[in-house]
Amino acid sequence: MLGARGGWRVLRRCPSSIFSSSSSSSSSSSSSSSLPREQRAPAARLRVRQALGAREAAGEVQVQGWVRSIRAQKEVLFLHINDGSSLESLQVVADPSMESRDLSFGSAVEVRGKLVKSPHKMQNVELKAESIRVVGPCDALSFPLKAKDRRPLEDIRQFPHLRCRSNALGALLRIRSEATAAIHSFFQDNGYVHIHTPIITSNDCEGAGELFQVETSNETRESAEKNHFFNGPAFLTVSGQLHLEVMAGAFTHVFTFGPTFRAENSQSRRHLAEFYMVEAELSFTESLQDIMQVMEDLFKTATSTVFSRCPRDVELFHKYVAPAQKTKGRLDQMLKNRFVTISYNEAVEILKQASQTFAFKPEWGCDLQTEHEKYLVQHCGEVPVFVVNYPYDLKPFYMRDNEDGPQRTVAAVDLLVPGIGELCGGSLREERLPFLESRLQRLGLADAYQWYLDLRKFGSVPHGGFGMGFERYLQYILGVDNIKDVIPFPRFPHSCLL
Ligand code: 4AD
Ligand code: MG
Repeated sequence: MLGARGGWRVLRRCPSSIFSSSSSSSSSSSSSSSLPREQRAPAARLRVRQALGAREAAGEVQVQGWVRSIRAQKEVLFLHINDGSSLESLQVVADPSMESRDLSFGSAVEVRGKLVKSPHKMQNVELKAESIRVVGPCDALSFPLKAKDRRPLEDIRQFPHLRCRSNALGALLRIRSEATAAIHSFFQDNGYVHIHTPIITSNDCEGAGELFQVETSNETRESAEKNHFFNGPAFLTVSGQLHLEVMAGAFTHVFTFGPTFRAENSQSRRHLAEFYMVEAELSFTESLQDIMQVMEDLFKTATSTVFSRCPRDVELFHKYVAPAQKTKGRLDQMLKNRFVTISYNEAVEILKQASQTFAFKPEWGCDLQTEHEKYLVQHCGEVPVFVVNYPYDLKPFYMRDNEDGPQRTVAAVDLLVPGIGELCGGSLREERLPFLESRLQRLGLADAYQWYLDLRKFGSVPHGGFGMGFERYLQYILGVDNIKDVIPFPRFPHSCLL
């Protein structure tokens, strides 16, 4: 997409898909200039973002979008139209005679006219309309969104199919798109190969049993045992890690960024049944510190890129959606400083000495609960905190034994961040065949994971990796309270699945 300050010369050089002349015919509800449409010079088709960055220009342009505000005065009709290309809408100035019954808040329009210098300080140009065609009318009374309506995110969640036309969700989804691109660029720029790991798989990588099983629509419960489509039970993936480990054995540095599914019956502000996970795997890596460095670099690079690519969209969140959390100031500070690291042992000691009483009493060997994670982050000064070396029994089979006692701790790391808790989880992987074999045997999993044991038989190397929840990442950098507000389509308990 062109930068907002692209300028007219840049616009002229744009591909024909952006500037193709319109062949659509005039509709009954249009008001037009005197020449019939087919006799006029073709208009350059502009996105709102391009138009806003353009200078005053001689030729006719055409802009399409949805009406965000409409104000009719005696002498002049003002419209603001938005096409999703930017937070700002383009002001259209028209003759009041162009007003029609179908022209209302929410209607889809195509405006032709000239870009002229705007007398307003806030914008370079405005579009002086020569014709306005209503492409799709909108009954503003029954349309759930209203002009200049700054309703809380929780409210507009009721309209999962329409909320993307609000400023807040528009900004969020543009940021989400930029963040996706920034994450891909980070890995590509650092020599990682992108791998599409399977969505349907037979492994439960995390061993937590939070699986959605996949069956064909005519596999009944009774026949499923005998007649699996995949010749065995199949599930939606909970993590692409094990498949990435396969690929790290050939490409050294790999990553994946795809949908992940967990059957967690949680209505919490930070859990989803379907979410996106960014995962990386690095071969020839003996130190957990190296994995943590990649996590920190990924976080900082992606965040700086997002902040510089869509400053206005980010500002909307920091100013209006989460101003109380002072997210921006804290994040700017965080981007400059090193993340803090503490061990699990230290974490438990800090929690035991806390004056606060916890619902779950902190004990060595118990998992850190959200309340513990929040306290630890606060204790360290509201900055991201790595917690390393967790108890062996708390963590999945693939994590590397630290050999600091009989099966006492593993080389695991969780990254905790303010307001959210756990953002990333990672570890060194157990690359030693005897260690892995005996652990899988104790868990009764050795047969199922023969293929995984093979990776330790044929050219095994020290390696490790991590996963970052993409929605939690967006929640953190934007200060969004509920994870349902950073996904394109929220599942509302009482609404159908879109
Ligand atoms: O800590 P987790 O379970 O780690 C793994 O799955 C590893 N196999 C990743 C790896 O090493 N390749 O999940 C990673 C992250 C969590 O830290 C959290 O941010 C996010 O995924 N996550 C969720 N996000 C939203 N909703 C849920 N139900 C989530 N469960 C995990
Ligand atoms: Mg975890």
